[in-house]
Amino acid sequence: MKKIKIAIDGPAASGKSTTAKLIAQKLGYLYIDTGAMYRALTLAIINAKTDTANESEIKKLALSCKIELKQLKTELHTFLNDKDVSDAIRLPEINQTISQISAYPEIRKIMVEKQRELARDGGIVMDGRDIGTVVLPDAEVKIFMDAKLRKRAERRFHELQKKGVKSNLKEIEKEIENRDNIDSTRTASPLKPAEDSIIVDTSNLTIEEQTDACLKLINIYFEKV
Ligand code: DC
Repeated sequence: MKKIKIAIDGPAASGKSTTAKLIAQKLGYLYIDTGAMYRALTLAIINAKTDTANESEIKKLALSCKIELKQLKTELHTFLNDKDVSDAIRLPEINQTISQISAYPEIRKIMVEKQRELARDGGIVMDGRDIGTVVLPDAEVKIFMDAKLRKRAERRFHELQKKGVKSNLKEIEKEIENRDNIDSTRTASPLKPAEDSIIVDTSNLTIEEQTDACLKLINIYFEKV
């Protein structure tokens, strides 16, 4: 069977990553979390104490740092300059800075190039904000996952609770809303559904149900070709 490209976009905590990972496992495809790449760069900027307003310094860092995604057992791990930063990139400090960094057009160009290279041979499920619109406009299946803000905040809150991280639902909701606002109003490849994407609202779906809904869309594609 032909190995296709599957693009999954959507706002923060809409369930993209969990579903993308499960779909990739099911199909034996590579899973690429592009948010993790922007997160690793943001961590590099914070570590280097680079001024977040200085785009040219950030560009230098983006070109010089080594960001890798590696599948270890069932989990996708993120490496920054050979160090596993999978946990560090999820810290609140990253969430507060990342939308500013990922809005810089020059930074996006560097990231998009890396992402296209990873997807070159197909057999990939890639999630992010601009995958269907900019990174892989030729993706055979494009899904835009959405869910009500409150639901998304609750999911993130429960995830953090499970990890034993103390958090506050109202604050999470505010942080997600703020990040979505910046991500969808930026000039460079804003978060929006591609014209040929299919919207899956996961507000009232379980992980299994939303994954099944996506797998059905992928099956429909294969039945048509
Ligand atoms: O998917 P995530 O929540 O881990 O992404 C973190 C941030 O990275 C998101 O708020 C915006 C940015 N991002 C982006 O601009 N483009 C992508 N393709 C993926 C993420």
